[in-house]
Parts: sequence; C-alpha cells; structure tokens
Amino acid sequence: MAINWFPGHMHKARKDIARIMSQVDVVIEVLDARIPYSSENPLVPNLRGETPCIKLLNKADLADPATTALWVQHMEQEQGVKAIPVSSKQPGQIRQLLQTCRDLTAGRNLEARNIQAMIMGIPNVGKSTLINILAGRKIAKTGDEAGVTKSQQRIKLDERIVLTDTPGFLWPKLNPPECGYRLAATGAIKDKVFEYEDVAAFLAAYLGPNYPLALQARYGLEEVPEEEIALLDAIGRARSCVRKGGGVDLAKVSSLLVNELQAGLLGPISLETPEMVVEEETRAQQEDAAKAKQKAEKDAARRERARKNRK
Ligand code: G4P
Repeated sequence: MAINWFPGHMHKARKDIARIMSQVDVVIEVLDARIPYSSENPLVPNLRGETPCIKLLNKADLADPATTALWVQHMEQEQGVKAIPVSSKQPGQIRQLLQTCRDLTAGRNLEARNIQAMIMGIPNVGKSTLINILAGRKIAKTGDEAGVTKSQQRIKLDERIVLTDTPGFLWPKLNPPECGYRLAATGAIKDKVFEYEDVAAFLAAYLGPNYPLALQARYGLEEVPEEEIALLDAIGRARSCVRKGGGVDLAKVSSLLVNELQAGLLGPISLETPEMVVEEETRAQQEDAAKAKQKAEKDAARRERARKNRK
C-alpha cells in the first residue's frame, strides 16, 4: 500500500520529541490493542531510550482478549515497559494510570518536583479520548485527522503529574507492508488512500482461518471458504451485495466487511500476534536486503560499462 507522509513534518516531529524527551520521566504510548505493532510510531522506541514506558493497549474492547494477553507478555519482556489493556468505555480503569506513573517513577527522587509524563500515539488510537478522561475535562479535539498539527499541550492531571501531549501527529508504521492493510482495516488510515477491495481481500485471507466462527455467526455462513475471494463472494451473497446480472458486487461487500469490522460487529478481533509480526519483520528485512543487493549489482554493472566506454 503506497502511502506517503510528509518528510518535513516527520523531521520536525522527531526534533520536537527528542528535545522534550530529555525532560520526560515516563512515556505513555497509546496503541490500538487490535494492532499493537502496526499502530506503533517507528520513532518511539528509539527516542524513548531508557525512559520508562507505559504501553496502553487501547480499544481493548474491540480486540481478542487472548491475543491481547500475548501482547502484554511480549511487550513486558522489554526493560522498563508496562503494558496495560484499556478501553475508554471503562474510564475508572484509565484513571488508575496515574498510580502506575507514580509506581514507575518511584525511587528516582522526584518528590521535589512534578512527574513529567508524555503521551504519544498515531492518529485514531484514541489518544484524545484518553487525555480527556485523564484530565477529567475536554482538552483535546477528539476524532483528530492525520495531517493536523497541534501545538504542544501541558495538562496538570493531579497534584503531582503533568502530561505533555506530543507535538504534531505521529505517522504510522508502513513497513512490513501488512501494517498498512491492518491500519486501513481498523480505520487508522482513512479511506481516501486505500482501495476497500484490497483491504477486504487482506482481511478475508486473515479472518477465514483465524476467526471462522465469528464469520459464520455474523454472516450466517454454513462453511467458510478457504480462498479470500470465495469468502467475500459468500459474504456478499449472504448480505445481498449482488449486481443485476447475479454476480457479487465486490466493492459493496468489501466496504461492508471493513466497516463492520471497524464497528466491532464481528466481535472482538485482533489482527496481529507477536509471532506473526516477528515473521513479517524478518521477511521484510530479507526483501530489503535482496533489493539493496540487486541495486548494488546494477550500480556496479553500470560503473563497469562506463569504465569500458572510457577506454
Ligand atoms: P486520536 O486522538 O488518537 O486521534 O483518537 P480519538 O480519541 O479521536 O479516538 C478515535 C476514535 O476511536 C473515536 O471514534 C473514539 O470514540 C474511538 N475510541 C477511542 N477509544 C476507544 C476505545 O477504547 N474503544 C472503542 N471502541 N473506541 C474508542 P470516532 O468514531 O472517530 O468518534 P466518536 O464516535 O467518538 O465521535
């Protein structure tokens, strides 16, 4: 999925965050629990360094609880990381975060000053909603659009904790390529930049083997076809997405599947597991290395031709 993010903006965000990071005691990284890997901004692990980090797996109400538990276990293997599944539908659970910030910074002699927390997240993970809950009032605009830059905000959450909202928006991870499809499927990438048919085919290929019961229950299918287009066809027929000639309207069934998944109508579903993303990362690295080798060979051949021509 070819999506370009404005490089000048990325550079500015990197600089702004790096500057603030030196004063930050704890990072709160908001992720989408359905896609905790794909919804991570690629800058964060590097910029965070040794700073303790709370990874909030938000929208846990939409994710598969068994997979979310695997993610918590996986993330907490990293030093200084606490992973917590949350849902803005349970604000009480989110307010407990203040205590977690105190716990993670205990023993660092911060009694004399406020605890500085910084919240980060790509658009649509629910960052604004969480900030409003934490602050107990409406602070940031919810339903933020990718590309809208907000100035840095500092919000006093209680007598000891000050929260800094990340300046500017953070772009999502688009490599390995599967990330782009998952971001589109969950609504983090808006529908202007992707084709529903592509995302629905990706989803059907994943949901068929991984969530057959959810598909059967939602669409009344007797069996779930293995092949993704056959599955979309079956869903299309079940939902009367049929053209005049009798063929399934692929565009219609595709947007139906994507929209119903986003609305949580298929039940709690996760789109990636730690095991899957390790494999995808390895494959993407191998592909990148093969491309770099091919380019180096082409360049060497070009230089050799030029050398012969000069003789
Ligand atoms: P952002 O600042 O990270 O861009 O995200 P924002 O808070 O604007 O939330 C994006 C969408 O996600 C909103 O829906 C919001 O209601 C929804 N959301 C946030 N947290 C949760 C959660 O824990 N569970 C679920 N199911 N949804 C959550 P929207 O349709 O864009 O807006 P609206 O319907 O709330 O008006």
